[in-house]
Parts: sequence; structure tokens; C-alpha cells
Amino acid sequence: MQGFPDKDASRSTRLSSVFCGCLGRTAENARKGYGGGIDPIANPYAPGAGTPPPLLAGRDGVLDAFDVVIGRAAAGNSFQPIVLSGLRGVGKTVLLLAFRSTARDAGWPIELFEARPGGDLRSQVAEALPPMIRTVNKRWRNRARAQRIGRIAASFARAVQATLLRSGFRLELEPEPGVADSGDLETDLTELLVALGEGAQDEGVGAALLIDELHEVPPEQLSALVGAAHRVNQDGLPVVLGGAGLPPVGRVLSEARSYAERLFSIRPVGALSPDDSARAFLEPAEALGVDITDGALDRLVRVSGGYPFFIQSYGKHVWDLADDSPIAEDDVDLAEPRAYRELVDSFFKPRYDRATPSERRYLHAMAELGDGDVSSAVVATRLGHDQPSRVSPQRDGLLTKGLIYAPERGVLAFTVPHMAAYLRQLPERP
Ligand SMILES: Nc1ncnc2c1ncn2[C@@H]1O[C@H](COP(=O)(O)OP(=O)(O)OP(=O)(O)O)[C@@H](O)[C@H]1O
Ligand SMILES: [Mg+2]
Repeated sequence: MQGFPDKDASRSTRLSSVFCGCLGRTAENARKGYGGGIDPIANPYAPGAGTPPPLLAGRDGVLDAFDVVIGRAAAGNSFQPIVLSGLRGVGKTVLLLAFRSTARDAGWPIELFEARPGGDLRSQVAEALPPMIRTVNKRWRNRARAQRIGRIAASFARAVQATLLRSGFRLELEPEPGVADSGDLETDLTELLVALGEGAQDEGVGAALLIDELHEVPPEQLSALVGAAHRVNQDGLPVVLGGAGLPPVGRVLSEARSYAERLFSIRPVGALSPDDSARAFLEPAEALGVDITDGALDRLVRVSGGYPFFIQSYGKHVWDLADDSPIAEDDVDLAEPRAYRELVDSFFKPRYDRATPSERRYLHAMAELGDGDVSSAVVATRLGHDQPSRVSPQRDGLLTKGLIYAPERGVLAFTVPHMAAYLRQLPERP
């Protein structure tokens, strides 16, 4: 199972986390650590995948919505689990980590895992169960019920010969014959979740499973997952099955089961507003005693386009290059090409390299048509074909590789922000 940083990204640390993660450095030595300049060791910006940012800017609405979901679930009221939908690098994973922290703080058994392309959902759920069983064993007052959950988890795992591992050790739990062991994913997942939900309800809490990259779950397994979510919802049980994925995730869920769009609350996650982007740059620096001039801040907000991953990359480079506080426009002049080069190397190029030469030609044709959604028929025409079907192998290859997605039938878009601009400035075409 893909590991997730266990760092606390919860709201309680949302504003104060700027004071940690800097190796205990004070504002004074953040300014003067290296030759009187700004100390790179104290650099607060955190470009990465699922790396909690120094300030989780502009996401109060969705964090509040998750608080309401778990509050309502635990109170026995109806709720819609949240599924985040957004492009690469907008901060979906860090939000799921924040959700996990919130639910853990509320005493919920909760796990988060990342769906693997073509992977087996049952094995992945089985891998996620041991930490949840640990929470159940530690917190539930009804011991018999807690032990039964462990046995049902063992049954669920055994049906695919999966073992329940905790920190590399096999959990030796006797299965519960006849429960969650039929081999049918929907039946077994439902039985597992119903048992978990009934127990959690008695304890006054809930339980949750969050799945990142949800669009990667194969359709028939997704259908089983949605079916199980529907059943616990109908039974009024406090089990939250949520997650995140690329923008087709809402459509993929509805295709799995038509009622999915009513079952889940699909929340788009996008670029930050200019004000929130400015806060994301400024507040982590200010917390370390470093100021940013208005001119420099405007430039940083503009070049990042408000995309969270770009904000962290530009923030990191401008901090490393600035000699002294305040960070000024000439520091941005120096940092901009370096940050962009790093974005090319870590974000754009690896994805472009995954495409075959004919798929690349397709990508370039899309990019030349503009930055937003494009019609697949127009792309085909641009490639010299009257029939879009002539280039559907390329389109399908790019969809499978996750480089593009179809916001609606016959329409395509890049999954990576600013990809079209990157492609247009490439000196060579395949
Ligand atoms: N609200 C935010 N404010 C500032 N920075 C953020 C915010 N959300 C995320 N980031 C930063 O953006 C980067 C990308 O975050 P994350 O990996 O969660 O994105 P993602 O949407 O899951 O991307 P992917 O689709 O590639 O998995 C990280 O460096 C993170 O610290
Ligand atoms: Mg992610």
C-alpha cells in the first residue's frame, strides 16, 4: 500500500504549522542563518506530493464541510460523504490527510489509501484494516463487539488470501465464518462496513475509509464500493466512504451506479483565489520574520496561477535565492526561471515522456487549440483526419495514462494545470 505521511495536517495546525517544520528555528535565525541572508534550512515552502503545506490556504469551506459530515454521521443524521475532484497538484491528497486527522481526533477508526491503476480493491481495503482494528480495540468499550470486528476483518481478508499485516507482522485473528467471506466484493464489503458502522454507532463515533485516486478503481469494483456505501447509507450507519480523484471522478462514480451523484457530495478543488494565494506565500514567510514586498507578491501570485503545487515551488525557490528580507521583485526575477525549470523536470516532462510519439502529436494539437477544454473532433481535424475515430487510439492511450480527461462526451482537457502552455513553448514537435 502506498504510504502516506502521518503528519498532522488538521485544522488545529493549519495556522500554527508555520511555526514548526523549520527545525526549531526562530524568526531571527530564519533571516540570518546563512551569511546574513535568509536561511535555506528554515525554508517553509513544501513542494511535493501529499506534503502538508506550511499554510493550508483557501480550503476552510471544504474542511468545514468535512466537519459537518462527521458531526452529522456521529449524531445519526443523514450525510453525504465528500469526494474531491481536481487536477494534478491542486491539493487533494493534503485535504484527505486533513480529513483523516480530523476523524482520528474524533476517535474514529479511519484509513486512507491510494487506489492503484488496475489494482485489487479488496486487497487494498484489507491492507487498510489493521490500523482501524487497532483503534477499535483501543477505544471501543464493548469488547466483544471490538473483537468481532477483528474477526470479520480476518474473514474479509482471507477471501482473497490477503493477510492482515501491522508494521510487517501478521495479525493472527480467527475469522468469523459466514460473514464477509463470500468472495463477492459488494456483499463482503457491505457486511464488513455494516458491522463496523453498527459498532461505531453504539460507541457514539463513526468509521471511515478514504480512497485517493478513486478514478483508478476498476469500474466493477467501484460499483461494489458504491453499492456498499449505499447500503450503509440506507441503514443510517455512520460510515463515511469518501476520497479524491481527477475530474472525471464524479462521472466515473455515476457510471458505476447511477445514484452515486446523489450519494456523494462531489467537491471541485481548484486553483486558489489571488487573495488566498497571496496568504499562502506571505504568511509562512512572515511567521519566520521574512517580509515580501507587494510587487514581489503580485508577481508570485501571477506566475503560480494560484495552483498549490506551483505556489510551493515558486515559494521555495524565491526563498532560497533571496539574500535578505523583504523578498523583492528582483528575487522573483531570479527565482522564476529556476522554479519553472524544476516544474518542467518534476511535473511536465515526466508526463510528456510517458506519451508515445503519436500521442505527443495529439497533445500538441490539443495545446495549439488553447488552454481550456477542446473538442476531440476539432483535434482530429487539426491532425488531418475527418473522422475522430482515426485518432482514438492516441486519445484512449492518453486517457489511460491520465494525461488528459474527458470533462464530457467529445470534449478533452489536460489533467495537469498549464500543460498546454508548456507544450506550446517546446522547441521541437514529434
Ligand atoms: N491549500 C493549499 N495551500 C498551499 N499549498 C498547498 C495547498 N494544498 C496543497 N498544497 C501544496 O500543493 C502540493 C500538491 O498537493 P497534493 O499532493 O495534495 O495535490 P494533489 O491534488 O493530491 O496532486 P496529485 O493529483 O498529483 O496527487 C503540495 O506541495 C502541497 O503542500
Ligand atoms: Mg494526490
